[in-house]
Amino acid sequence: MRIEQLIRLIRENDFNGALISPGTNLYYLTGLYPNEVGERITLLVINADGGYHLLAPSLYESTIQDFPVTFWRDGENPYEKLAWILAEFELSSGRILIEDTMRADWLMNIMKLGNRNFEFYPLSLLMRKLRMRKEPKEIRLMEVAAKVADRVFEELLGSDLLGMREKELALKIEMFSRELSDGISFKPIVASGENGADPHHAPGDRRLRKGDMVILDYGAKWKGYCSDITRTVALGRPDEKLVEIYEIVREAQERAYKAVRAGIKAKDVDATARGTIGKAGYGKYFTHRTGHGLGLDVHEDPYIGPDGEVVLENGMAFTVEPGIYVPGLGGVRIEDDVAVIDGRGKRLTRANRELVVL
Ligand code: CO
Ligand code: CO
Repeated sequence: MRIEQLIRLIRENDFNGALISPGTNLYYLTGLYPNEVGERITLLVINADGGYHLLAPSLYESTIQDFPVTFWRDGENPYEKLAWILAEFELSSGRILIEDTMRADWLMNIMKLGNRNFEFYPLSLLMRKLRMRKEPKEIRLMEVAAKVADRVFEELLGSDLLGMREKELALKIEMFSRELSDGISFKPIVASGENGADPHHAPGDRRLRKGDMVILDYGAKWKGYCSDITRTVALGRPDEKLVEIYEIVREAQERAYKAVRAGIKAKDVDATARGTIGKAGYGKYFTHRTGHGLGLDVHEDPYIGPDGEVVLENGMAFTVEPGIYVPGLGGVRIEDDVAVIDGRGKRLTRANRELVVL
């Protein structure tokens, strides 16, 4: 089990244990993904000797089975039970890994448990080593999520988008995605016209009209694994400047994709995209990194930016998504999911990248 791999890393790196709240790390390690725990503390305690034990609300008694677990009921103090688990594991001091996304109130309550002298470190220090290199079966699940993104794009090309509000189109993307997959990997971005200059525009009331470039950025989930795609489409013939920008972004994305191979650094891929856009004179309008790792989280290691020192290896998966954003005019972004397989980049998302004029 993957939990054994983590325990080995905990030992090798001289940590005493780990406290892991629900999220993609807990899922990766145990297959457990308790739904909507909210404020009710749920915690996997791991110690370097190899023991592990879950503390969970009794609401999950029917769904968490065949796992060492102590349940607590509403009205009980779960931290008394946690203190008992820590005592059993003789965890009272030392270097403890904390799930990066743990709620601050849980951590503050843990810090108040008496007579403990912990030094805290982020769990991602070790988890990134495990999760960055995907197993073939993980890549296969990502391919399914990517195919859903492609299919949704085809559905959109067959829809009449003219006059639709951005938020209506976002809802349409969400419905198509949910029909074909386990759900969306993040809230879709629909940015039309001048709104396209904002890379993370929240879809609003603006209606799509002739001459718009529209950025569509969305993704689906399949068995926990995410896809993340961006296509930019035109409604009627857009401003010539935007057509020129489109071709620059498309070339930057293609070159960056082709640069992907095992043995180079993440920042080399970024430099390829950035160099292409810079040479065309739009360098200052490419305002974000070229991509991000993708897997159970829609943003994870390795990050493909100017500071990306990670050496790419087989099994790594990430996005390649350069963009150009010109205030007052609009923007273009093209994003694919790419996995390193047999030393080369392989696109998982394959939807048409030519400029589509609807
Ligand atoms: Co995206
Ligand atoms: Co992305």
